Amino acid sequence: MTKTKLFFSFVVIFASIPRTHTADTVSANQIIRYNETIISPLETFELGFFNLGNSTNYYVGIWYKKISTRTVVWVANRNTPLTSTSGELTLTCQGILILRDATRGNVLWSSENSSTTSVRNNPIGQLLDTGNFIIYEEGGGINKEDPIWQSFNFMTDTLLPGMKLGRNLVTGIDRHFTSWKSPDDPAFGEFSYGIETRGYPQLILLEDQDIKFRAGPWNGLRFTGVSNLKPNRFYNFTFVVNHKEIYYQYNLIDTSVITRLVLQPNGRVERLVWVDSKQEWKLYLARQNDLCDQYAMCGPFGSCDIVKSPVCECLKGFEPKSPDQWKITDCSQGCRHTIPLDCNPREGFNKYSNLKLPDTRGSWYNQTMTLLECEQMCKRNCSCTAYTTLNISGTGSGCLLWFASELDSKRSSAGIRGQVIVPIAVVVLVLLVAICLFCHFKRKKQQQQGTQSSDEDLELPLIGLSTILKATKSFSINNKLGEGGFGPVYKGVLENGKEIAVKRLAKTSTQGLHEFKNEVISISRLQHRNLVKLLGCCVEGAEVMLIYEYMPNKGLDSFIFDKTPMELVDWPARYNIIIGIARGLLYLHQDSRLRIIHRDLKVSNILLDKDMNPKISDFGTARAFGGTQTEAKTNKVVGTYGYLAPEYAGNGIFSIQSDVYSFGVVVLEIVSGLKNREFVHKEHCNNLTGHAWVLHNEDRSLELVAKCLGESSNVSQVLRSIHVALLCVQRHP
Ligand SMILES: *[C@@H]1O[C@H](CO)[C@@H](O)[C@H](O)[C@H]1NC(C)=O
Ligand SMILES: *[C@@H]1O[C@H](CO)[C@@H](O)[C@H](O)[C@H]1NC(C)=O
Ligand SMILES: *[C@@H]1O[C@H](CO)[C@@H](O)[C@H](O)[C@H]1NC(C)=O
Ligand SMILES: *[C@@H]1O[C@H](CO)[C@@H](O)[C@H](O)[C@H]1NC(C)=O
Ligand SMILES: *[C@@H]1O[C@H](CO)[C@@H](O)[C@H](O)[C@H]1NC(C)=O
Ligand SMILES: *[C@@H]1O[C@H](CO)[C@@H](O)[C@H](O)[C@H]1NC(C)=O
Ligand SMILES: *[C@@H]1O[C@H](CO)[C@@H](O)[C@H](O)[C@H]1NC(C)=O
Repeated sequence: MTKTKLFFSFVVIFASIPRTHTADTVSANQIIRYNETIISPLETFELGFFNLGNSTNYYVGIWYKKISTRTVVWVANRNTPLTSTSGELTLTCQGILILRDATRGNVLWSSENSSTTSVRNNPIGQLLDTGNFIIYEEGGGINKEDPIWQSFNFMTDTLLPGMKLGRNLVTGIDRHFTSWKSPDDPAFGEFSYGIETRGYPQLILLEDQDIKFRAGPWNGLRFTGVSNLKPNRFYNFTFVVNHKEIYYQYNLIDTSVITRLVLQPNGRVERLVWVDSKQEWKLYLARQNDLCDQYAMCGPFGSCDIVKSPVCECLKGFEPKSPDQWKITDCSQGCRHTIPLDCNPREGFNKYSNLKLPDTRGSWYNQTMTLLECEQMCKRNCSCTAYTTLNISGTGSGCLLWFASELDSKRSSAGIRGQVIVPIAVVVLVLLVAICLFCHFKRKKQQQQGTQSSDEDLELPLIGLSTILKATKSFSINNKLGEGGFGPVYKGVLENGKEIAVKRLAKTSTQGLHEFKNEVISISRLQHRNLVKLLGCCVEGAEVMLIYEYMPNKGLDSFIFDKTPMELVDWPARYNIIIGIARGLLYLHQDSRLRIIHRDLKVSNILLDKDMNPKISDFGTARAFGGTQTEAKTNKVVGTYGYLAPEYAGNGIFSIQSDVYSFGVVVLEIVSGLKNREFVHKEHCNNLTGHAWVLHNEDRSLELVAKCLGESSNVSQVLRSIHVALLCVQRHP
């Protein structure tokens, strides 16, 4: 009886609360209804009811207030949607947030299981500008720093700046991503991504219970399986391991940037950045990039190298466990020792560099040991199979050990598996280092020589930094066009209205001048309608930039791959592009005064002008040759996997034939709309070039043509293009 009375008195109080509610807090017993929201103090985030698309399922969630596309970053009742707009969100006097269906009266969701909690002293719910909704006691013992409850502890599919991904070892809270079921259903999906704490902590993506991808353990600088996670201007990141907590976190350096890390319903982990000028989210980094990122692709003691065909190989001293399976490219069984180990003291270790560290579940670590102590410890224990430095930052510290016993007892899950060679990251690092030294060198030289200009200073106009800052709005993220191997590219407009593209060479570089000098010299001497024109360069302070003519249509890659049919170019345009590239290449190889080898010819390096004429760009890796020299050897292979000729990737021998090989790949990609590097045929595991060859032999080449080209294609032109492409990629240079 008393309960009923209490209920009625509440109803009277509720009715007097105004309908629209725009505060950032909610106090005890206050009701938030369908049309009302809570907005954070600086209006960054908003909490309220929402539905998706035409669905009549309603949810309570948090989304960005200032973004035109509704982007939900947190959902309360993921699995228990409301089916009408009659939901009511209340904060009880125990400090528990409750979502009720007012027509039916049932509770759909609550922030805590109430039975154990007692009445709080004036609980308050508040939405912060970080996107965190917290519940604390006003003037009570439980303050904002250590709230009763916070939404950040119950992550959905989004990691916001400042949020911790990982475990609190004291409270036992495990914050990990769980994907949505589909883009219009926030229910728990199949994928989860979080920190595995068995052995040395590592990031693991699961589909149900199966491991799909390992970002790997942290090596002091980054996750060893995420080579593209690098220091940048937008956000910094850190990984903390101590006896209280283990977590990954990123924070904004430039707070005007809006970025989030998301586990998509399809299981991809993506970092997205909001681009205000286009009013859309743009992909900044993806964590899974190719075949080798698949968990245990090559099995235990196998290594995966995307350049090679087949991609799997056994480590030195190992052989395929089941050679027959291995031959038909099923490498999942992995490798075993060629000669079984007998724990003889004379046995030593092989050293491997540039590999992703193996699965660390069942590993052992110590954060203070040195590498020498680590080796000795591993040698003393017969079941120890491998050791490494734990933390490579500074002079290196810590010890990580792997054991064979784990491998044998849990063969299918633990041990040394799915190693990935990541030489690209290393090459890029070396190149970046190269450019910076040059800028210092060059600046010094300018100061010393005054106005005197050497051959290398060229007939190129030097453009002032202030002009460029003005043109690119101080390198606004809205002006960013993309990211090349050497740094970001921005669009700019000069005061006279001329549009330019500014390639800002990364600052972190410290080694020789070679690549930058090459690009400037090669390009400034070349004049051809199928080559991008260099307008000038800018060397000031630590900044080194190249200024090109702006190509409104961007790279060819944005026209031939995975787009809606409307955006794709038809066959006559593609044929024109193929011929244009061939002309540009012929000029580079034969008709220009210097013989130039591009070395990184690929679809994204072909830019299109407003009439869709192709222009070859990005000469950062080009090599100039004397008139008679035709071949050279390099010990630093540069370029892009998928386009590298085998003799170049394998032995570092490059010649005009290596460009010709890349050209062949480009032509096949243009014809088929498929990416050589990503394509794997379902039955015979061939890449695109292999697949094209099989089709050609069976006289079925036309099946390669992109479906969207349909009637626009001219059969004889298509067949000729494929034929020429196959001649370009054949085995013998
Ligand atoms: C929400 O507001 C709209 C417009 O102000 C109104 O038409 C609608 O009936 C309201 N819905 C509810 C459930 O109050
Ligand atoms: C939503 O409804 C509109 C109009 O009825 C329809 O055109 C659209 O395809 C629907 N969208 C979805 C996702 O069902
Ligand atoms: C509440 O209790 C149920 C059943 O015991 C449990 O599954 C759920 O995780 C609990 N919720 C919270 C927020 O603790
Ligand atoms: C790695 O070493 C650096 C420098 O010695 C230290 O600052 C950092 O905290 C270490 N990181 C981890 C995760 O142990
Ligand atoms: C990251 O940047 C923020 C803001 O500039 C700063 O407060 C924080 O200390 C930085 N964190 C690391 C790990 O460098
Ligand atoms: C780690 O190694 C150091 C030096 O060998 C030792 O003093 C320390 O006790 C070890 N810590 C753990 C947790 O084993
Ligand atoms: C070797 O290491 C394993 C795993 O840590 C341990 O169980 C075993 O006792 C060690 N053996 C020796 C001889 O130290």
